[in-house]
Amino acid sequence: MKQHPTITHFASYEEMSKAAAKLVTHYVFKTNANLALPTGGTPIGMYKELVEKNLDWANVRTFNLDEYYPINIDSQQSYYYYMYENLFSTLKNHQSPQISFPHAYYDNHISSAGGLDLAVIGVGNNGHIAFNEPGSEPNSETRIVKLDKQTIEDNARFFDSIEDVPTHSITMGISTIFKAREILILAQGKSKLEILKKGLWNKETKDIPVSWLRKHRNLKVFYCD
Ligand code: GLP
Repeated sequence: MKQHPTITHFASYEEMSKAAAKLVTHYVFKTNANLALPTGGTPIGMYKELVEKNLDWANVRTFNLDEYYPINIDSQQSYYYYMYENLFSTLKNHQSPQISFPHAYYDNHISSAGGLDLAVIGVGNNGHIAFNEPGSEPNSETRIVKLDKQTIEDNARFFDSIEDVPTHSITMGISTIFKAREILILAQGKSKLEILKKGLWNKETKDIPVSWLRKHRNLKVFYCD
């Protein structure tokens, strides 16, 4: 039996992004595929590749992992804005009824849609997944959470000042993500590699939320420097 999840190292960000887009493409061709999608800097390359492929997304429903709370969705910092800007506005046959963002009944919504086929996720420098910050339990579902100091500092680069970063967010829970039939983690940079190794190659701990995924039976981890 495999001791711990394999971290696949790619020679470049471009190669990693291409491989991630290839996996997503496989699901786009499937009937009724349900995808969980991330935001942040890391998946931008994957989204670029997907846009270039110009696929038909008619059979796909997307469920975003997280969103700031509260936030004006029209502001440039909202994940809603990010998704339309980087992906949704250019996709063929991907309209608002197929697009979901976290809300109070998200877990029911996802399970009545048939569950997630693939969750593509990033990881924070503190090991968070979506906005499940250190302290998150494995049975957590979609909920409003307080952002960690480190996350606020890391995400301040997208705002005019650190004071503008919302203090809370609404996020899929660990159990919501774990139930996905396949999970792809995307990470770039040495500090992410460090936290991935700590989390995935050791015993699970709520101090490093990504560690709860180490026993998922269909987990891929893509990394580049
Ligand atoms: C945010 C998001 C996470 C994402 C993380 C990493 O905090 N809520 O879902 O994984 O950023 O982002 P980046 O790729 O910019 O390092």
